[in-house]
This record gives sequence, C-alpha cells and structure tokens, in this order.
Amino acid sequence: MMFPPLRFLTVNAIVVFICGPTIVHAWCRNQPGDPGYPSVADWSTFNDTISGRLLSIVPSAEACRELSCTEAQWKSGIFRQTIPGSMNAYNWEQDYGPPPQLCLRNGSDCAQGNVPLFAAGIRFAQVHSLRVVIKSSGHDYLGRSTAKNSLLLWTAFLKNITFTDQFSIAGVDHGPAVTVGSGVGLKTLYVAAKAQDKMFIGGTAATVSPAGGYTQGAGHSAFSPLYGLAADNVLQFNVVLADWLPLFWAMRGGGAGSWGVIIDATFPTLPIFNVTLHTVNVLTATLDQTDCLMATHAMHINDWDDVGAGQYFYLTGSKSNSTLVLSTLFKDLDGEASKSQMSSFLADVTALGAVVQGESTVTTSRLVPSTVYTHPPKSVGSAYRQLLSQDVQSVLGHLVAGGRVAVNAKIDSAVIATKRWDSTLSAEAVQALRLDFTATVRPVLEELAGGASSGSYSN
Ligand SMILES: Cc1cc2nc3c(=O)[nH]c(=O)nc-3n(C[C@H](O)[C@H](O)[C@H](O)COP(=O)(O)OP(=O)(O)OC[C@H]3O[C@@H](n4cnc5c(N)ncnc54)[C@H](O)[C@@H]3O)c2cc1C
Ligand SMILES: *[C@@H]1O[C@H](CO)[C@@H](O)[C@H](O)[C@H]1NC(C)=O
Ligand SMILES: *[C@@H]1O[C@H](CO)[C@@H](O)[C@H](O)[C@H]1NC(C)=O
Ligand SMILES: *[C@@H]1O[C@H](CO)[C@@H](O)[C@H](O)[C@H]1NC(C)=O
Ligand SMILES: *[C@@H]1O[C@H](CO)[C@@H](O)[C@H](O)[C@H]1NC(C)=O
Ligand SMILES: *[C@@H]1O[C@H](CO)[C@@H](O)[C@H](O)[C@H]1NC(C)=O
Repeated sequence: MMFPPLRFLTVNAIVVFICGPTIVHAWCRNQPGDPGYPSVADWSTFNDTISGRLLSIVPSAEACRELSCTEAQWKSGIFRQTIPGSMNAYNWEQDYGPPPQLCLRNGSDCAQGNVPLFAAGIRFAQVHSLRVVIKSSGHDYLGRSTAKNSLLLWTAFLKNITFTDQFSIAGVDHGPAVTVGSGVGLKTLYVAAKAQDKMFIGGTAATVSPAGGYTQGAGHSAFSPLYGLAADNVLQFNVVLADWLPLFWAMRGGGAGSWGVIIDATFPTLPIFNVTLHTVNVLTATLDQTDCLMATHAMHINDWDDVGAGQYFYLTGSKSNSTLVLSTLFKDLDGEASKSQMSSFLADVTALGAVVQGESTVTTSRLVPSTVYTHPPKSVGSAYRQLLSQDVQSVLGHLVAGGRVAVNAKIDSAVIATKRWDSTLSAEAVQALRLDFTATVRPVLEELAGGASSGSYSN
C-alpha cells in the first residue's frame, strides 16, 4: 500500500509585541476585583480600538432566553456555536461549586459560572495579565474553551476557505491543499471540498473546527488508518502569539489552546473516492454475552487492517442486556466486498448467541495500546462487563488508528465511557456523580489500557 510521505510543517507566526501601558505581572491572572484588572474605562477604550467588536458574554441559557430560541435550536450544535458564551455541552458553562454558579435552560436565575466575561483581542489580555481562553466551536470534551472570569478570543468569524493545486512552502510544492480559517466547521469544509471533487482527512462532527482544537488534539478520522491523523498531514499554521514559543511540534496533537491563536491551517486534499458504510447492530441478552461479544470484537479488530477500514463502535446497555452499534467505512469496496470483510466477526458473534440485526451497507477515557489486542483480549470483555455493572450507560470505541497512524506512533484505539445526567439534578449530586465516576469507572479503563502510565483521549 502506498502512503503519502510524512509532511513538514511550517508555522507562520505573527508575534504581537507589547509596548503599551505598564504590564501588571500577577502570579495568577487578574480577575474582577484585583487591582490590575481593567477598569470600565479601560474596557471601553479597548473596545474603541477594535472598532466596537468587544462582546459582553452570557451563558447559552441566558442567550437563548434573550433570543427566545426553540428547543431544536437549543439542542443544535450549529445554532449553539453562533452564541459566543456557548459550549456544545453546556455542563462546561456551569460551575458546580461549591458554591455552585449555574445557568440552566429552564432555571429561574442565571450565574456566569465558567463562562468568560468578554470576547476580543490577545494584546489587551497580555497587557492586563488576563486569563485568556480561545474558542472556535466550543466542542471541547475537556471544557478547555471556556474559563471563569476570562477574556475569550472567539475565532468563529474566521471563515476563509482557499483551495490550491500547488501549495508551496519555501519553494517546495506540496501538491493540492486547502487553507481553512479557524472558524470553519468540518461540514462546511466537506461541502466545499466535495464541490471541487476533493476530500481531506477530517472527523465526524459537523461543527468541530479542523483549524481549531481538532488538529491540536491529533485529529482522527475514519480514514486515518489509510492516511494518518490530521496532525500527521497538516502543512502549515498561521498563528498569532503573545510571546515567541517553539511551536513546531506542539500544535500537532500537543493539546489545544495553549500555544497561540491559530488563524488558519493548511491541509493536503485528496481526490474524491468511493466509500461503503457498513452498519450493523448486535444485541445481547445477558452480561455474560456482552463480555463475550466485546472479547470477540477485540479478537477480530485486526480483520480490517489490510483494507485500512475505520470503525466507530458504540455499546449501550445495562447489567442485563446491551446493543453494540458498529459503523465501518471501507474505501473503494462495494457492498458485497464490505459484507464479506465483516462476515467472520459476525459469524463468531452469532455463534455466541448474540443477535445480529439490520446489517446494511449504505467522557473519561483511555487510549488502548495495540498490545491489549494482540495478547488474548479477554480483558476487553471483562472491562466492558465491569463498566456496565457500574451503570455506565454507553461505551464509545474508535478504530481510527492502526495502519498509517501506527507507522507514526504506537497507539491503536480509544475507548470512552460516559454517564449522563439530567439538568434538573442538583449541583451537589452532579459533583458526587463526577467523583464517583472518577473513583470507580476510570480505574476500569486504566487497567485495560495498561495502568497509571496510560494516556487519555482529548479529542
Ligand atoms: C460530537 C463530537 C464529535 C467529535 N468527533 C471527532 C472526530 O471525529 N475526530 C476527532 O479527532 N475529534 C472529534 N471530536 C473532538 C474535537 O476534535 C475536539 O473536541 C476539538 O478540541 C474541538 O475543537 P474546536 O476548535 O471545534 O472546539 P473548541 O471547544 O472551540 O476548542 C477546543 C480546544 O481548541 C482550542 N482552540 C480552538 N480554536 C483555536 C484556535 N483558533 N487557536 C488555538 N486554539 C484553539 C481551545 O482553546 C480548546 O482548547 C468530536 C467532538 C464532539 C463533541
Ligand atoms: C463595544 O462597542 C460597540 C459599538 O459601540 C457596542 O455595541 C458594544 O456593546 C461595546 N461592547 C461592550 C462590551 O461594551
Ligand atoms: C424546558 O422547558 C420546556 C417547556 O416547558 C421543555 O419542553 C424542555 O424540555 C425543557 N428543557 C430542559 C433542558 O429541561
Ligand atoms: C480572507 O479572505 C479575504 C479575501 O481573499 C482576504 O481579504 C482576508 O484577508 C482573508 N482573511 C484572513 C483572516 O485570512
Ligand atoms: C465510484 O463508483 C462508481 C460506480 O461503481 C464508478 O463509476 C466510479 O468511477 C467510482 N469513482 C471513483 C472515484 O472510484
Ligand atoms: C434490556 O434491559 C432493560 C432493563 O435493564 C429493559 O428495560 C429492556 O426492556 C431490555 N431490553 C430487551 C430488548 O430485552
């Protein structure tokens, strides 16, 4: 199999030199009430220097009340990202305390919680030693794009998309590429690329920002087994910095939001290709069957290496029964060929008594090393057994590595366990649930992934 060569990255940095008023250096950043915090007049003067683009920010529930938004809008990622204070998952906007500061959809009062106070520019933040947080879409799984008493740099308006057939860096042609602003979501870019008969290595969510947090958290795709991660592929970042920092490697999966503000990023494009999506549900009636099912899945996980398939697998269930939903993407295979790729796995799960249904073709986590899958993978089954026994409601697995990704680094897949709560649950009960989750669920994944030195999923 031919792989594209490893790319070199360039970072074009605009360093913002500070030459304004005296810098108030604080060990902790200035917050309202601190002597170094900007006055109302400072904010107003600053607003004038940026043509009135300083925004006051409120939590999304408050913004929705002001906009009289519908339930459908409230739940839409696409609508939510038009609200500057909004996180995709609005628990990140809350400060569960103690004491709690909440702003809930149907609550009677609204506190600012962990929502930034203003949105605008990096230089002002440096001069006044403010907490800064950068946000593109607000999808962050770790809540890193919102912070209490901070100044938000909101890149949602950086919407440029430019395709080229020859992207040159220092006179070297890197072939066809697209340069995308950090306010552009994946779906917008897919649609734009398709109009040019082109593809790029992107993820699944419509509004996740490829030039925002996605690539900084490595950026996995159903096509990563064939083409590598977004971080392996990215050619260039244009970045605004407050200080010079060595960014060469940091931005390629080194964790988002800590290095500078990405204005845009450039990715190679590929000619468009045909894909078959194979979906199937597997139902079990007992916890023993679920254990066997997941061990069997682990046993078969290398079945698709030769064709470089990507797979998302999602187990929902309880102590009594479960449903495993598998979506597998095969490049350049037709429906029959895709089904035959799945047949050995599905025959084995049928033999253990699970029910195969609807085969068709059309947030603590641990990275699971490939060795877990090469040694007898019974530990995978018992890990899922333990998770469901602890009332974890769903376990999401991503086979978006191996292949080209494994050539670059030895990490093979990620497993994410989730528990949900209703927004009517008290802040104290939410805190208790979070602590219990950390104490009981995380160790199960940690043990599966090889102990305390294992890594966790940021994307
Ligand atoms: C439903 C859903 C599906 C997902 N699917 C995938 C997937 O298929 N593949 C995958 O790899 N990941 C996936 N993710 C994870 C996603 O890539 C990460 O959450 C990513 O951090 C989101 O980046 P963002 O910029 O859109 O979000 P934000 O919350 O806006 O930002 C995330 C992080 O990036 C920083 N950041 C944002 N913009 C900039 C910028 N311009 N300059 C510097 N730092 C910036 C923020 O400070 C924050 O730390 C998914 C997430 C969700 C919620
Ligand atoms: C900044 O100025 C604009 C234009 O005058 C105004 O609409 C906006 O409310 C100001 N922002 C803040 C935070 O006061
Ligand atoms: C808020 O109230 C509306 C109408 O009473 C209801 O339909 C909706 O489910 C509630 N939303 C939440 C998040 O509780
Ligand atoms: C976006 O594209 C326009 C038109 O080409 C250009 O004038 C502008 O500078 C670009 N903006 C950014 C942030 O690159
Ligand atoms: C996709 O499949 C169709 C139908 O089999 C075929 O005509 C077309 O050439 C294929 N396209 C590519 C890019 O392989
Ligand atoms: C699965 O178990 C739950 C209880 O945990 C029960 O409500 C549900 O009906 C069961 N589903 C099937 C298909 O047996």
